[in-house]
Amino acid sequence: MTQIHSLPLENDGVTEDGLTHDDYYRIAESCLPGAGLGGYSLPKDVRFIIAKGEGSRIQDVRGRWYIDYVGGAGALVLGHSHPNVIKAVQAQLPKGLHYFGTLNDVAIRLAKELVEAIPCAERLIFTTTGSEATFYAMRIARAFTGRNKILKFEGAYHGNHDYSAFSMFPSKPSDYPSGRADTGGIPNTVQPTVLVSPYNDLATVEKIVKENRADLAAVIVEPVQRIIFPRPDFLAGLRRICDDNDVLLMFDEVVTGFRLAWGGAQEYFGVIPDLASYGKIVGGGGPLGCVAGRAEIIDLANPRNRGKPNYAYINGTLHGNPIAAAAGLATLAELKRPGFYKALHEKADEFCRACQGVLDRHGLTAIAAGEASFWQILFTKTAPTSYADVMASDVAAARALDLASLKEGLYVLPNVRRFVSAVHTSDDLEDTVRALDNACRTTNT
Ligand SMILES: Cc1ncc(COP(=O)(O)O)c(C=O)c1O
Repeated sequence: MTQIHSLPLENDGVTEDGLTHDDYYRIAESCLPGAGLGGYSLPKDVRFIIAKGEGSRIQDVRGRWYIDYVGGAGALVLGHSHPNVIKAVQAQLPKGLHYFGTLNDVAIRLAKELVEAIPCAERLIFTTTGSEATFYAMRIARAFTGRNKILKFEGAYHGNHDYSAFSMFPSKPSDYPSGRADTGGIPNTVQPTVLVSPYNDLATVEKIVKENRADLAAVIVEPVQRIIFPRPDFLAGLRRICDDNDVLLMFDEVVTGFRLAWGGAQEYFGVIPDLASYGKIVGGGGPLGCVAGRAEIIDLANPRNRGKPNYAYINGTLHGNPIAAAAGLATLAELKRPGFYKALHEKADEFCRACQGVLDRHGLTAIAAGEASFWQILFTKTAPTSYADVMASDVAAARALDLASLKEGLYVLPNVRRFVSAVHTSDDLEDTVRALDNACRTTNT
């Protein structure tokens, strides 16, 4: 059993390349903005460089182990280097890393499995990432309806493209239905095409949809928005509003797909959208996503229709990449085993309850909010039902605890939900309770 973080270093921080942790950071600081890989740059006293992952744990270049609750942003539901996933990738590798322009056998097998599993899917189109999947879902919805606008929810994340980067993490409430751009560089012409509503608020959604129905192509929703679960009637209410107003309903299942259930949020909540976007688990940790949906909509991307007015162009060098498809197929084979989701949810509940117990013992007004296999520690009394509720919680206290947890050997990102995988163990549970207890002690003094 690998021991976590606060224990002695296994080596002096020198890697096989003869570089130390500090050497790597010097290089990263000079090559990468903020010495990060994108949206996150951890403070100096907790940052580390990942050398490898094994099961539920990762090791940094100094030899320190962490229990991984980031889980590849939710992609690694089987943890790191699952033997059957590695075997499938190794079998594919000698046949080539990448082809283009013509079908490959692995991608076809994965497409069949996905269409059979995803309730709304009659057809699908492969993409490389979840962002591309939501981007193309929006494009195809516009092509199908001949309308320009998309309604999204405040606090929802649909990836990194211009049509999703509105009111993802606003510091002030949005001026519904106008969203706030979360980044520079978005053309001014995009802003009026993205409408924003508060999540879990059907009355506001209905008002915005009715007022904009002539221009509105679709409503896109994360069925579980970050850590906010839908009210019992919310997703069914969205389905009704979209049907009443002849607008498409799109689920962003990049996180919930194959995590909440085999049939994702569609099965878990019993609501079927017109289109759904996927990423993460479907590629088994490799670069693969897809847009799935009704045949009459997805068929607009049929390349034989090129040149027709509502043809939706979808193309990408890595679409249907055989290595990612092999990893995805091997992952799905594990998830398909009877009882997989029941066991995953029960395990995650146990971890969640144990963490709640630690928070309670320290007398903190904090909850481990979530269900199924992800939750987040929020400094508040009740589970949030909107982005405004999350912002009203003590975000600074949660950040401090998450950073202290990192120091104790729990790999969590500050103010981000944590994912439990099928391979987290009872030793992980014990070590997590001890680490969180220490983290609470250091932040509570
Ligand atoms: C709900 C949701 N949609 C879309 C994306 C974007 O996926 P990717 O990072 O693969 O582009 C993410 C990524 O975290 C996500 O959580």
